[in-house]
Amino acid sequence: MPASFTLAIDGTFASGKGTLAGKLAGHYRLPYLDTGKLYRAVAKQVIDNDISPDDGAACAALAQNITPDTLNDIALKSGPVGAMASKIAVHPPVRAALLQFQRDFAAKGAVLDGRDIGTVICRDAQVKLFVTAEPEIRAERRYKELKGYGEDISFETVLAQLKERDSRDSGRDIAPLKPAEDAHLLDTSNLSIERAFEVAITLCDAILAAKSD
Ligand code: C5P
Repeated sequence: MPASFTLAIDGTFASGKGTLAGKLAGHYRLPYLDTGKLYRAVAKQVIDNDISPDDGAACAALAQNITPDTLNDIALKSGPVGAMASKIAVHPPVRAALLQFQRDFAAKGAVLDGRDIGTVICRDAQVKLFVTAEPEIRAERRYKELKGYGEDISFETVLAQLKERDSRDSGRDIAPLKPAEDAHLLDTSNLSIERAFEVAITLCDAILAAKSD
């Protein structure tokens, strides 16, 4: 096993990819970046400054000023911020403004999770996973999470918003959500977090061992 490597994890909203990415980063002792936070940080500023999400230039100007200390705000986790993130993520200048930060983070080996890590940001990553699960199962997970934050929302609304988000992320022209050709698929529909973690470690170890032969 190499001392350091890049693990690119892409996948659908609420698929469990973030939890998995954090656990894998701990297991392999690699730094971890949740790239969704970058888009969420821009989205929060778009909301706070009452900027139109259709104004790509204004959104990109905010994206240029994102710093690591803006990424730990608990408010970034909210449903409206996530929905706004997917709206501003369609603009090529926004994505361009966030690209180098992600590549620099990955330079010495890291775990990154997002939507375009294996296809755009880290095309040469040694290991690529694409994590997903059935929409109803993902919606149930997200519903429980939002209830935990005290949000007043129904399961049906969460499911409808999730399908809308999937379709916007997969249907956009730039860096659409899709598995890289060399990504390994991991469906977490019927897996607990612990089991998904075990399966992912087995997969990663096998890929790394095959590459070192
Ligand atoms: O992963 P998370 O739900 O935090 O991401 C919020 C939104 O940010 C996604 O729905 C997607 O539109 C956008 N995003 C992206 N590329 C990434 C990470 C997130 O377009 N690498």
